[in-house]
Amino acid sequence: MAKPLIVLGSVNADLYVEIPRLPQPGETLPGTGAAVRPGGKGANQAAAAARLGGSVRFAGRIGRDPFAAPLRQALAGAGVELGLLQEVDGPTGQALILLQQGGENSIVLVAGANHAWDGLDRALAEALPGAGCLLLQREVPEAVNLLAASAAHAAGVPVVLDAGGADAPLAPELLRRLAVLSPNETELARLTGLPTGSDAQVLAAARALQAQGVGTVLVKLGARGCLLVPREGEPLPQPSFRVQVVDTTGAGDCFTGAWTLAMMEGQEAGARLRFACAAAALCVQGLGALPSMPTRAAVEAFLKGHP
Ligand code: RIB
Repeated sequence: MAKPLIVLGSVNADLYVEIPRLPQPGETLPGTGAAVRPGGKGANQAAAAARLGGSVRFAGRIGRDPFAAPLRQALAGAGVELGLLQEVDGPTGQALILLQQGGENSIVLVAGANHAWDGLDRALAEALPGAGCLLLQREVPEAVNLLAASAAHAAGVPVVLDAGGADAPLAPELLRRLAVLSPNETELARLTGLPTGSDAQVLAAARALQAQGVGTVLVKLGARGCLLVPREGEPLPQPSFRVQVVDTTGAGDCFTGAWTLAMMEGQEAGARLRFACAAAALCVQGLGALPSMPTRAAVEAFLKGHP
């Protein structure tokens, strides 16, 4: 049996408010819709990889409140194994998502249970050495990411970190343990202190991360696509697919989950990037983060239609 992908990260109730534009300070603006949808960067990435056919275990923290059951249901419904998801006292993580017409969003995050970690659980520590890959983001405490990355790295398990979820610099000890770091261009600029306005600048910033010990850098460039910068060899760009955007929330998570699964499957570099961009192109066409993660069949049909 294939070794599972372990995704350690956040699970959030995404509290959506649809608005025509962001309000000014002191302004009251009529919204055009509201809904609660499942999300959280960890949950989204786990669901993305599972819906695409991966064997996925999710390690996280969820509160004791009315959000918990539907979130569990959404993850399990996507095919994610939840034995490493622990319930804790207090509220589940919540994200207030202001979704503007055209799909752009602004997010306010309340970490809640996602920050209720006290070291690595025994079950997680025991599971990590048997994983095919460990996938992290930055919506849980950095110390937990470092503990998990160290355990995985020591066991020869590749560690992928999506840089989304926190603005602080990354600890050098964590950087050294990453087989893959995936920032968007804003995160890349913040992490390196370098400009990322042009392709040449993006490449130079990615190389700066590699000088600190990171293996591959996979830069998400939004509507421009992505750039894979391997430690050795030439960088590989992939333009994004042009589609009608409804909601960009979770598109980066979809990309990272899909790319990581494709890496575990041994897809070659160019195919991996196309697979991940296709998954993200499908994701942005639906409302909600986790509910918009596409199936394998949908991605394969999309790729056939976009040779
Ligand atoms: O990356 C998108 C996610 O960020 C949302 O689902 C929200 O929960 C926030 O964590």
